[in-house]
Amino acid sequence: MSLHIDILTLFPDMFSGPLSESILKRAQEKELLSLKITDVRDFSHDKHRTADDYPFGGGAGMLMKPEPIFEAVEHVSDSRKEKTKDHPHVVMMCPQGKVLDQKAAQKLSKKEHLILICGRYEGIDERVRLHLVDEEVSIGDYVLSGGELPAMVLIDAVARLIPGVVGAYESVEADSFTESLLDYPQYTRPREYRGLEVPAVLLSGDHERIRRWRRKEAIRRTYLKRPDLLKRHEFSKEDKDLLEEIKKEIDDKGI
Ligand code: ADE
Repeated sequence: MSLHIDILTLFPDMFSGPLSESILKRAQEKELLSLKITDVRDFSHDKHRTADDYPFGGGAGMLMKPEPIFEAVEHVSDSRKEKTKDHPHVVMMCPQGKVLDQKAAQKLSKKEHLILICGRYEGIDERVRLHLVDEEVSIGDYVLSGGELPAMVLIDAVARLIPGVVGAYESVEADSFTESLLDYPQYTRPREYRGLEVPAVLLSGDHERIRRWRRKEAIRRTYLKRPDLLKRHEFSKEDKDLLEEIKKEIDDKGI
């Protein structure tokens, strides 16, 4: 399985660093992921390469024009026609979209061909949203200057879910959020640093105790930091017992 992502942007240079390092670099080398950046201005209709214009009806700011975006999407769709059987899935990065979470990233990682449109200026002609885009995605309830950074966030979250991209697939499966729990605390050498010790259980070599401790600490962290996530967690009998222990410890210690 491999995924091709076309990125449509007015700022192609923004992508050169983050997409060519570390995991994303390896994913492309292994041909599990291919990325192509397209400059929307290449599809403008005039010699000034105009991609924006004033809003009808007046108002502040400029809007991205529809023609270069429609034509860029058509161009990248056509150039993949032979390689992918499914229609491309067209995503627009914008703050009005559904907020990206692990489940949405998982769904996107199963597609064959994604086209990401990065908005800029004060907005985009509504016809793009209505007639070209399959899904609008936000990366959080705050406004950035454009969709480029959000597109990079989406690509990173999605790429690491393609089987084979991250060495040990279990480590992806065990990631925070896959099952609505935050990660358990981790320690590496040295055993003691400035008087701060690694919890003894992790040095015990007792795999069952370590597993139970990790599960308990994942539940404790989630309970203390993101109690909203526990609402959708499917509790096993052990999880319920561990949460009771945690609540009792907190009551006893007043923490
Ligand atoms: N463009 C501007 N802000 C954004 C956000 N929070 N998510 C996605 N795209 C954006």
